[in-house]
Amino acid sequence: MSHNSSKIQQVCGSNSISTPAFIYDENEIQRKLSNIRKIQNCNILYPLKPCAFIDILRLMAPLISGFSVSSLFEAMLANEVIKNHNVIHITTPGLCPDEIENVSELCDYISFNSISQWKLYHNRLRSGIKQGLRINPQLSFVEDDRYNPCRIHSKLGVPLTEMVHELNDINFIKKISGFLFHNNCESTDFNDLLETVNHIDKYLPKALKKISWINFGGGYLFDESENIGALAETISCLKSKYELDIYFEPGRGIIGDAGYIVSSVIDLFKSDHRNIAILDTTVNHMPEVFEYQYKTDIIGDACNGKYKYILAGASCLAGDIFGEYRFDQPLIIGARIIFKGVGAYTLVKASMFNGINLPSIYAYTLTNKLVLRRRFTYDDFLSRYEVKNNVIE
Ligand SMILES: Cc1ncc(COP(=O)(O)O)c(C=O)c1O
Repeated sequence: MSHNSSKIQQVCGSNSISTPAFIYDENEIQRKLSNIRKIQNCNILYPLKPCAFIDILRLMAPLISGFSVSSLFEAMLANEVIKNHNVIHITTPGLCPDEIENVSELCDYISFNSISQWKLYHNRLRSGIKQGLRINPQLSFVEDDRYNPCRIHSKLGVPLTEMVHELNDINFIKKISGFLFHNNCESTDFNDLLETVNHIDKYLPKALKKISWINFGGGYLFDESENIGALAETISCLKSKYELDIYFEPGRGIIGDAGYIVSSVIDLFKSDHRNIAILDTTVNHMPEVFEYQYKTDIIGDACNGKYKYILAGASCLAGDIFGEYRFDQPLIIGARIIFKGVGAYTLVKASMFNGINLPSIYAYTLTNKLVLRRRFTYDDFLSRYEVKNNVIE
C-alpha cells in the first residue's frame, strides 16, 4: 500500500482541490519502479492499459526499458513519450488490416496472438521488427473466468499444445524470435510465474533454445523485496539455461497503489432505515467497482466506527453504489471521501455516463506538491457527440 496515504489525506482535506479528482502520487510510482529495478537481468516495460495519462508515461520513460501496448492508438501515445533507450512491444487479438503498416512502423516487438494472425500479417512488417508469438500456457491461476487468460476456449494466445505441432513448420519458426505469455491477475505469488515457465519449458525446450527473448506479461503485485524472490529465480533459471532477454510488464503492480479518487459528499438522507451518502463521483469513474462488485478501500474508514453509511454514486443507475462504510464521526455535506489503491484501470475506463464530468487529474509531485494537470469541461463531453468535419461521405 502507498507510503503516502496520510500526506495525500492532508492535501485532499484542503478546499483547493476540486472534486471529483484523480490524484496520482509520483513518489509511489518511483518507489515501485525502483523496487522492481533491483531485479537483475529483467527489462521492465510499462503497459499503457491500466493508466495512460501522458505525464505518468513521461515520468516512467527514463526508468524503464519501454512500453507495452495493445492497439495502434496506444502505440502512438507511447511513441509521443519514448526516450532513445525505450522500446515498444505490442500484442493484441485486435490487429486490423488497415493498421498493420502503422503498427509495424511504431513498434519494435510484435507478439502475434494466433498463428493465423501471423500468417495474415508477417509479410507486411518492416524489416527489423522482432516477431514473436503470444503463448497460452494453459495454466490457470485466476478463479474469475472473466479475467482468466487461460480459460477454456481462450482467445488469448496460441495454446501450448497447438504450438508443439506448429513448431514443425520450419518457415514459421525461422521468423519467430520470442514468446509472450500473460496468465495471471493480481497475484502476489511469483511462484505462479516460476511454475508457468517450468511448464512452458516442459513443452517447448527446443523452441526456447532457438528464441532470443521472452515476455512474462503482467498480472503480479509486488511491494517490498520479500515477494520477488521467485521472480529472480525464474529469471536466473531462464538466463542460465537459454540466455534469453527477459521482459516483464506489470501494470497494476506499478500504478495501482499510486492512484486515489477524491470525492465530496453532496447529499445525505435515509432510505429504508439506512444512511445514504451521495458522492460527486460514480462507479463509472471506477468501473471495476461495478464489474467486479468489489469494495474499494477508503482513507478514514473505521471498521468499528459508530456511523454507518451506504456510499453511492451520483448517476441514476440504481447499482451505482460503492458499499457500506463506517466512520468515527457523522458525515456532513462537503466531507471528503478518498478512495485509495485505484490507480489502475480507473481513468482509462472512466466514462461521462449521465453527463457527469470526469475527475480532474492532479499530480502529487516528487516535491510533495499537489498540481492540477487536467480539468475536463463540457467541450470534452460535446466533442464525443457533435458532428466533426473529418467525416468522409
Ligand atoms: C499482455 C498483457 N500484459 C500486461 C498486462 C497488465 O496486467 P496487470 O495490470 O494485471 O499487471 C495485461 C493485462 O491485461 C496484458 O494483457
